Amino acid sequence: MVFADFSFAKVPPIYFGAGKRQMIPSWLQDRALCRLLLVIGGQSLQKTGKLAHIEASLQQYGLTYEIINCTGEPTPTFIDNTCKTYKDEGIQGVVGIGGGSVVDAGKAISAMLPHRNSIMDHLEGVGKGISHSGTKVPYLAVPTTSGTGSEVTKNAVISEVGPQGFKKSIRHENLIPDGVIVDSELLTTCPPSITAACGLDAFTQLLEPYLSPTASPMTDALAWSGLTAIGPNLLAACGEGAGNLTVREAMAYGSLLSGICLANAGLGIVHGLASPLGGFFLIPHGVVCGTLLAAAAEANWQALIARDPQNPAVIKMAKLGEFLEGEPGKDPAYYGEVLCQILWKWTQSLELPRLGDYGVQTSDLERIVTKTRNRNNPVQLTEIEITQLLQSRL
Ligand SMILES: [Fe+2]
Repeated sequence: MVFADFSFAKVPPIYFGAGKRQMIPSWLQDRALCRLLLVIGGQSLQKTGKLAHIEASLQQYGLTYEIINCTGEPTPTFIDNTCKTYKDEGIQGVVGIGGGSVVDAGKAISAMLPHRNSIMDHLEGVGKGISHSGTKVPYLAVPTTSGTGSEVTKNAVISEVGPQGFKKSIRHENLIPDGVIVDSELLTTCPPSITAACGLDAFTQLLEPYLSPTASPMTDALAWSGLTAIGPNLLAACGEGAGNLTVREAMAYGSLLSGICLANAGLGIVHGLASPLGGFFLIPHGVVCGTLLAAAAEANWQALIARDPQNPAVIKMAKLGEFLEGEPGKDPAYYGEVLCQILWKWTQSLELPRLGDYGVQTSDLERIVTKTRNRNNPVQLTEIEITQLLQSRL
């Protein structure tokens, strides 16, 4: 193992386990956060009665709250309007209970509530480029999907869809949530298609930092722990194991680690592509990552073998292929191929939608590739290689 220089970002206090949502009111009360914004997503929390239980427990503790519905990926207008509405209401804390979009929305609202300007001022690459001051309202994140890992990161992704669309972040060390509650009981009702897309996104967010040139022994340990948690449980979570708490806990654990890993070792070509694709087209982030994962792994594997066979990513990909196949004794070249085959099998059996299902056409590929960065990919892919990998998922 090589112990090169590395840094490791702050990780929030994490409370993990079945039923941990019962801690929400006491966590808030202990910090004297009594007037709250409760950011939630669509209907699933209501339908299962879990929202009613959470509301009753807040009321029992004498906490008051306003509910904010965030039904899609948060836009600048949504964040600005919410903050404008509640800026003089004495809000002391924000709680985000939902999928990645909700957790991001809550994070962005908590960041902008004490300020009078637009979030556009702070979005990287599209706004005025003004750094956020770090002054925010305390934020408790409660994820209900196993995907983005946003509950442990310092950025919130804000989207605008259209010809001038973008997916850009507001970012500051202080925006790392002040507490994270991961309750597997909140995950069991997540439908198979969302579980598949989010699960593959989390897997990508573990694999890309694992193969990153900026990986450290710490991120490697966490990424491997997450990959080996999600790998054997992904298909079950999307099928007969959907209601199994152990399966859901493995997915939630992997997702949580994926956020820590991406924050500390960066991401690769899949996420490099997710940014322009998600800006130009109305495609959920998890679907973009899920549908590109196998094709990108194959492109990376072939490029590594051809141009950089001594790259540490080669042995890492082979090690993962060997683990997922479960049959030791073959050489790394074999296991690298096996990894790609297994990822393709997942893509097919989980019926990941294709990019073409969301309107992406061959004529769009050039502008997507132009806006794509290789980021921390283990090997620099050429524009032709990136175009081919996109083409394979149209
Ligand atoms: Fe992702």
